[in-house]
Amino acid sequence: MGKVKVGVIGCGMISGMHLRALKSLPDVEVVACADIVVERAKQRASEFDVPHALKDYRELLRMDEIDAVCICTPHALHAPIAIEALNAGKHVLCEKPMATNAKDAAAMLKAARNSGKLLEVAIRNRFSPTVQFAKRIVDDGALGKVYYAEGSIGGRRRIPGWGDSGFIRKRTAGGGVVLDLGVYTIDLLMHLLGHPKPVSVCAITSDAIGKNKEAIVEGGWYWEVEDFEVEDFGAAFVRLDGGTSFVLKAAWAMHLDSLGSTFLLGDKGGLRFEPFELYRDEHGTMVTISFPNLPRLDPYSVLMAQISAFIDAIKQGKPSPTPPEEIMMTNVIMDAIYESARLGREVKCRVPKLE
Ligand SMILES: NC(=O)c1ccc[n+]([C@@H]2O[C@H](COP(=O)([O-])OP(=O)(O)OC[C@H]3O[C@@H](n4cnc5c(N)ncnc54)[C@H](O)[C@@H]3O)[C@@H](O)[C@H]2O)c1
Repeated sequence: MGKVKVGVIGCGMISGMHLRALKSLPDVEVVACADIVVERAKQRASEFDVPHALKDYRELLRMDEIDAVCICTPHALHAPIAIEALNAGKHVLCEKPMATNAKDAAAMLKAARNSGKLLEVAIRNRFSPTVQFAKRIVDDGALGKVYYAEGSIGGRRRIPGWGDSGFIRKRTAGGGVVLDLGVYTIDLLMHLLGHPKPVSVCAITSDAIGKNKEAIVEGGWYWEVEDFEVEDFGAAFVRLDGGTSFVLKAAWAMHLDSLGSTFLLGDKGGLRFEPFELYRDEHGTMVTISFPNLPRLDPYSVLMAQISAFIDAIKQGKPSPTPPEEIMMTNVIMDAIYESARLGREVKCRVPKLE
């Protein structure tokens, strides 16, 4: 196979990182950009020297020469565009979250299986050296049996209000911080725990800051309070098959600087992410191990590693580097989080059937 020819759909904020990464790969040619606001497609095309700038992504999907697409649209369009792209015979790298619900995620998975094309979701954490090392620590048995984990993500005033702010309206986003950021942490914990089946969830969500005009202050990001229809905070207790559980905390905005560190507790050791340290009993005493030589990558380099692995998988005919079957489970858990928060009680997790 010669160069992999790629199209980028959605030319907002994150498309710049995708295009920069794609353009730096010698075995990739970016053929077209598409955005419903065609000026954005034209802007990206001129910035990254891409020959075609289109308004309608379907026109891009009809281009026979295109092998693969990057989908960088608002969350609610990930599933429909990915399914159309797979049905059109394109490999798909889709931004996170995979979909806004598990039913749509399962439909994406089915379309990938039927088309025989790759479906990769840009959960870039999986390509972070720290996460890869943490996985090695857990898989090597250094923690023993993990019985509890906690994951936190977010910031003090970081409601994503840019662009048309597809992030804060229910119709375009499907949900708020849980779908936008919680998805990273849920996948991180599920990945480290070896993907046990999720059993049940007890969760709450809040929009206390997002709906408050007075929370738009110096130093924070700007958003339109009138458009805010989703949650800015979510917390969940997730029970997993096999006796492990985790707590997720996610905030786009809060009156606090941090929700604490992400950590795992096992019967032989504990692992904390910030700072990255392993806690064990060794030689009859408690030891704390730090890893000063671990490489640290910025978010662009981590996305670059994922895009590079995606292109390599296309060229080598390998499976998706991040199995979409695993990522679909983030949507299963997030569906349960929203349902539990709405009903005010613990709910069972429902995995869609994939006959
Ligand atoms: N910005 C980030 O830091 C970041 C990081 C990781 C992941 N993501 C994910 O990437 C996705 C996009 O985020 P963003 O920050 O780039 O948003 P954005 O609002 O800046 O860009 C989205 C773009 O999609 C376009 N679009 C909307 N409907 C379209 C359609 N039917 N056809 C073609 N284009 C269409 C919009 O016009 C807009 O230019 C989100 O799902 C987000 O979760 C963003």
